[in-house]
Amino acid sequence: MKLSWFKKGTIYQIYPRSFNDSNNDGIGDLRGIIEKLDYLEHLNIDILWLSPIFSSPNDDNGYDISDYCSIMPEFGTMDDFDELLRETHKRGMRLILDLVANHCSDEHMWFEEAKKSKDNPYRDYFHWRKPSADGGPPNNWKSFFGGSAWEYDSASGEYYLHLFTKKQPDLNWKNPKVRKEIFDAMRFWLDKGVDGFRMDVIPLISKREGYPNAPDVGFRKIIEDVYANGPNLHEYLREMNDKVISQYDAFSLAEGVGIDHNNAGLYIDYDRKELDMLYHFDILECTIVNGKFEEASPFDLINMKNIFKKWRDAVHQKGWLANAMGNHDFARMVSRFGNDKEYWAASSKMLLIMQATQNGTLNIYQGDEIGMTNIVLESIDEVKDVQSLNFYNENIENEKYSKQLALEMINREGRDNARTPMQWNDEINGGFSMHDPWLKANPNYDKINVELQQNDPNSILNFYRNLLKIRKQYDAFVFGDFEELEYNNPSLYVYKKVFGGEQIMVLLNFSNITNTCTIQEEINTAIVLINNYDTLTADQKSINLEPYQGVVLKLKNKA
Ligand code: GLC
Ligand code: CA
Repeated sequence: MKLSWFKKGTIYQIYPRSFNDSNNDGIGDLRGIIEKLDYLEHLNIDILWLSPIFSSPNDDNGYDISDYCSIMPEFGTMDDFDELLRETHKRGMRLILDLVANHCSDEHMWFEEAKKSKDNPYRDYFHWRKPSADGGPPNNWKSFFGGSAWEYDSASGEYYLHLFTKKQPDLNWKNPKVRKEIFDAMRFWLDKGVDGFRMDVIPLISKREGYPNAPDVGFRKIIEDVYANGPNLHEYLREMNDKVISQYDAFSLAEGVGIDHNNAGLYIDYDRKELDMLYHFDILECTIVNGKFEEASPFDLINMKNIFKKWRDAVHQKGWLANAMGNHDFARMVSRFGNDKEYWAASSKMLLIMQATQNGTLNIYQGDEIGMTNIVLESIDEVKDVQSLNFYNENIENEKYSKQLALEMINREGRDNARTPMQWNDEINGGFSMHDPWLKANPNYDKINVELQQNDPNSILNFYRNLLKIRKQYDAFVFGDFEELEYNNPSLYVYKKVFGGEQIMVLLNFSNITNTCTIQEEINTAIVLINNYDTLTADQKSINLEPYQGVVLKLKNKA
């Protein structure tokens, strides 16, 4: 097994726009992050991942880059960045950036040039196609954010491809010049000392030859078979690893859109030398039936156990995963998988236990360490996310949903849930900014905030801090082999993990009622390493778990 520094580490994702606003203009910034580095160090974080900080017109909040080697002025200057990197390293933490290389902004110089004429040297940086016979888009591909994936350019009479918004034209990776531009940009940051990249929608960079129509199957299947996993993809990834990443003490974390446990190995198996790890979408989407907003299935623990198991079996010893239960693209973790009302604290803590005891690098999202919850946006004017707005406009226009229902759907699954300002204290806007923030703060900041929790030894925050530390002391947490108990129990998730002689047992109760778990082990010699309740009731053969109780026991070492 390749033992690299990032495996036992915890990644903390920062959404800079919403983290901390140092100059009170309503937008989080780099100096705001610098102010909070001590907080992050104290939380026992190892690696910071910053969502994009590069120049961008912000059609998709920085995921539409107009210059890969500059800092978005709203976020600060290059000097601020250099200081942030220095100060992060000084505290023994690492920093990775978000590389958005499948597409850029339509305001990037490359696209502005490309639009000028068909023989412009930048034309071939993008995907241009003639209209179909009826004058419509060249094929039936849909954008991830609604509508056709093609936009007509009247000046040249051709369409360009955009798998996301029309302000995010897809780059043509077949063109070696495009690859060189991206690799050079990566080197620019790596030479500064950056420790790696999170790679945005990286499975999409190679397009199917001839741009064939997508068959009439669910969107998820279309992503897998038509948009992702294209014919030259692995060649590009190997080139990127060979020429760039492997030349530095740096790693890549891929966003695994369109990756299934069956083909994951092609991306992350150690011997393929492509990517260092990925986070997949099966857990993040396990309650989404078809289409992000529309149908949700109730949370089903057995389904989740199956997902964890099939990925574990597929990747075991051959590659490496990152574990994410939430990020800037999904509603809040505790609101989706826990109980954000009467068991808010217990379930927040229990979810961390589960996440921290799966094999792989732990990947947590800002605000989850204090149990931040979904927000209720009262009107469509308060919604800021382009994905939600496109969904709303499309479905109001075609009269599929009423305004109220569409807004309810957005409130349940929309990305703004995870993007509300970080709640630092109970002052105005949760201490994020004195100015009205770009997206309104969750009014529950008077009850859920860092300051309150810092002083409370039983808080979610202090639980995170403690668990992240303990996790590093026992290799079984990160590397252990799994042995599941109660596999068919719809409320209990129970497993043993063994690494070398070391054995731990994890017991989680995913329900609002007390449940009893029967155990064969000698539990009277076990030590309680982690418990999100003050008490634990057990006898020789069974353990009672309170609603959302989560426990990690250290069992006697194996001989
Ligand atoms: C990724 C990002 C998401 C963005 C999309 C397009 O999924 O996480 O926020 O909208 O890519 O770049
Ligand atoms: Ca600011």
